[in-house]
Amino acid sequence: MPPLLEVDGVTSGYGKVEVLHDLSIAVPEGAVVALLGPNGAGKTTTLRVISGTLPVWAGGVTFDGRRISGRSPYEIARDGLLLIPEGRGIFPGLNVKENLEIGVRAGDNGSGRGERMEQVLDTFPRLRERLSQRAGTLSGGEQQMLSLSRAFLGNPRLLMMDEISMGLAPRIVEQLFESVADLRAKGMTIVMVEQYLTYALRLADIIYVLSKGRIEFVGEPCELRDSEALASSYLGAG
Ligand SMILES: Nc1ncnc2c1ncn2[C@@H]1O[C@H](COP(=O)(O)OP(=O)(O)OP(=O)(O)O)[C@@H](O)[C@H]1O
Ligand SMILES: [Mg+2]
Repeated sequence: MPPLLEVDGVTSGYGKVEVLHDLSIAVPEGAVVALLGPNGAGKTTTLRVISGTLPVWAGGVTFDGRRISGRSPYEIARDGLLLIPEGRGIFPGLNVKENLEIGVRAGDNGSGRGERMEQVLDTFPRLRERLSQRAGTLSGGEQQMLSLSRAFLGNPRLLMMDEISMGLAPRIVEQLFESVADLRAKGMTIVMVEQYLTYALRLADIIYVLSKGRIEFVGEPCELRDSEALASSYLGAG
């Protein structure tokens, strides 16, 4: 079966500066793919290209067999490809309930909506207690719970997460990744950029290590653990 998402020989960058060089990534349906690599390697840039906020210069991106590169971020999101951007991406002026309802609206029209909302609020009781609080006044961890909840309610076909653990206390990170593990168990296809290697290695089926806009390694988590050179460069951080 062809992969659900395929980044094929993509070159892209900012202005005249090329950041991604002939990059190829395959994400099979139902898999969790982790993108690792040092600061500035091009991880966020890769997610921007996939979500359509940054154009490809060469190569292409296909989703479910259709070419999505060149289409607008809105069209790509409507097709079920959802990005939780670096630094959250909630609506700070709206309250928690309104933010969650945006997620529900983005999702399908199926009957599971109410049930999914309940599941989310059971997973994150802190959000249930704060439904009428303005999202911008939530703590960092609570905001991250909100963006993950909203993504879940939107019922995407593929969920991309850019360092959702950034700046959060270990206990909150643990909670967030428990809910990511739930999504994984439900069969959601996930692309995650993550600095906490423990979580990436625990959750991912396939690991890509990027360095300077190129793929340095691709394989299963156990192979990365066995590769001493890579491990010393990348496994020290988490
Ligand atoms: N908007 C931008 N304009 C110009 N250059 C940018 C822009 N965003 C990123 N870059 C550059 O592109 C390169 C890759 O950045 P990117 O944000 O993709 O890295 P990253 O792997 O996500 O790093 P980090 O782990 O620090 O988040 C870096 O050299 C960065 O300075
Ligand atoms: Mg980044």
